[in-house]
Amino acid sequence: MFVYCIIMNRRDIIIAVDGHSSTGKSTFAKKVAARYGLIYVDTGALYRGVTLAALRAGFGDNLLEIDVEKLKSELLRTDIRFLPSATGGGSELYLNGENIEREIRTLEVAGRVSIFASIPAVREFVDSILKEYGKKRGVVMDGRDIGTVVFPDADLKIFMTADPQVRAMRRYKELVARGEEAHYEDVLSNVIERDYMDENRETAPLRRAEDALFLDNSDMTQEDEMVWIEKIISQRWG
Ligand code: DC
Repeated sequence: MFVYCIIMNRRDIIIAVDGHSSTGKSTFAKKVAARYGLIYVDTGALYRGVTLAALRAGFGDNLLEIDVEKLKSELLRTDIRFLPSATGGGSELYLNGENIEREIRTLEVAGRVSIFASIPAVREFVDSILKEYGKKRGVVMDGRDIGTVVFPDADLKIFMTADPQVRAMRRYKELVARGEEAHYEDVLSNVIERDYMDENRETAPLRRAEDALFLDNSDMTQEDEMVWIEKIISQRWG
């Protein structure tokens, strides 16, 4: 194992960043990818995109009433993919050719995504997209089950969390900055509700992988996080 670490190129590694919602996983994962020349994959965006597609196709948000076979056929007709951002740097999500970056971040989608993400057919659909990215290696993926289900053999696993109030305040400020009408109490309820649904769903619940490093960033800045990860990566891969 020691020899393997030495000869393994940093550019070939898979880094799994899992954790609670609104912990800044995507900001962190994006910065790590940029720092080490890796590709960043926002797996939550894919679940959000599928949710938007399902809502637009008329599927309601009552789990018991969703016709899973119909949803599967809908997904087969759905083209969802990341394309390079037109404004430079990074990538953005497209649904059947339409840029949906903005739509997938609304509270309407945020409030329903856990429901669709709990459906095994939806998870299989998203996992098949993620596995394709994994084949190329050199990726940082953030999500809920990357280190436990999608890539249990990831080279580095990180589990991120922060106090719910801290997370709600960060999300609230983001929404307000984007000009969305938001109330802190609603955002906090959404954070708590999503934690519950993520941790208690039957398929691929949010769990810390045994070998994941724990990162509680309640009192950390983004710079602190980078110092933390740089130390770990230089210890492991030089
Ligand atoms: O990271 P995020 O908040 O954008 O994720 C949106 C939703 O997708 C979240 O409620 C949980 C779900 N999700 C998941 O179930 N598995 C993943 N790998 C990523 C996200």
